[in-house]
Amino acid sequence: STAWVTSWMGIDILVSCPWAERWNGVGRMEMKPQTIPGSVNLVTVVDVHHWTDTLFSFRVTRPDSFRFRSGEFVMIGLMNDPDPKTGKVKPLLRAYSIASPSWDEEMEFYSIKVQDGPLTSKLQHIQPGDEIILRPKPVGTLVHDALLPGKRIWFFATGTGFAPFASLLREPETWEKYDSVVMMHTCREAGELEYGRKLVEDLQNDPLIGELVEGKLHYYPTTTREESQYTGRITDNLVNGKVFADLGLEGPLEPARDRAMVCGSLAFNKDVAAVLDGFGLEEGSNSAPGDYVIEKAFVGDGI
Ligand code: FAD
Ligand code: A2P
Repeated sequence: STAWVTSWMGIDILVSCPWAERWNGVGRMEMKPQTIPGSVNLVTVVDVHHWTDTLFSFRVTRPDSFRFRSGEFVMIGLMNDPDPKTGKVKPLLRAYSIASPSWDEEMEFYSIKVQDGPLTSKLQHIQPGDEIILRPKPVGTLVHDALLPGKRIWFFATGTGFAPFASLLREPETWEKYDSVVMMHTCREAGELEYGRKLVEDLQNDPLIGELVEGKLHYYPTTTREESQYTGRITDNLVNGKVFADLGLEGPLEPARDRAMVCGSLAFNKDVAAVLDGFGLEEGSNSAPGDYVIEKAFVGDGI
């Protein structure tokens, strides 16, 4: 038999043995397409799109039993290479925001490619038909339940921090709950905005969601290290009022009207939080809903 059982956090995981790799001649690990006992799933990649040399998105099958709230994140990953001595393999998992909405039959992720990154140095090479690991324990604070009712919601993202908003922008609840949705996404260069730009464009042209969105969506993509239609950091554009002037919106943000969700680097999150505090908004959480919520887009200084 080619089956091999290894143990991870008390869970028995069935994978192929190293010899099976040699036999199938493709030089990659072969994993059985099944739900592995003990709450780890293998899901199949159905589509991959490379946006830049550091960014890609992909879609995978969604297990019937997998439920999440739009905006949450989950652990996904790959099996590591077999240990040369023992032949045993261990899962390599990282937190990822689910970029697709809760109603979607498939799941989408939007990913960085870190050249020396343990996971993404490999993950960037996935192709349709490959399998990845999905841990079915979605969590997160960028959810509607963590905010008090309001009239206008602001989504603030840098880089791959757009991912939870790719989910929330396609979530009908977002459009039902708010009269106005402002998506601010900032990257160094224009090419890095493309995933978000295409998503927003498709939303507006969608026969169903398009109607919900009409007149409510305000999209403000900016770059900081290359000229484009709008430039500047999110923090600066909020404080100097440029975003309100450019979009023709009433400013500044007010606790009686505005709600916000923030997703970027630690430094970005901290600085945006200080701006929102300055406007009088209060941070909330799942257990104590408030005016704004924050999630890290990644840990570390960034690539
Ligand atoms: P790691 O060893 O994990 O990272 C190496 C270094 O690369 C980090 O220290 C950091 O400096 C930098 N880095 C890692 N991720 C990013 C990033 N996204 N943008 C810029 N620099 C980065 N990553 C995604 O690509 N998409 C997501 O939707 C996503 N959601 C996340 C949600 C949460 C709550 C957290 C905590 C992290 C999330 N990440 C996301 C980051 C992700 O968990 C991994 O760090 C990333 O996939 C790189 O994995 P790695 O093993 O290749 O490198
Ligand atoms: P800038 O080019 O002025 O640093 P990074 O790739 O470093 O994570 O940055 C992604 C985007 O987020 C860049 O446009 C960057 O602007 C912006 N940014 C980084 N840190 C902050 C911060 N503390 N406050 C506001 N914007 C930030």
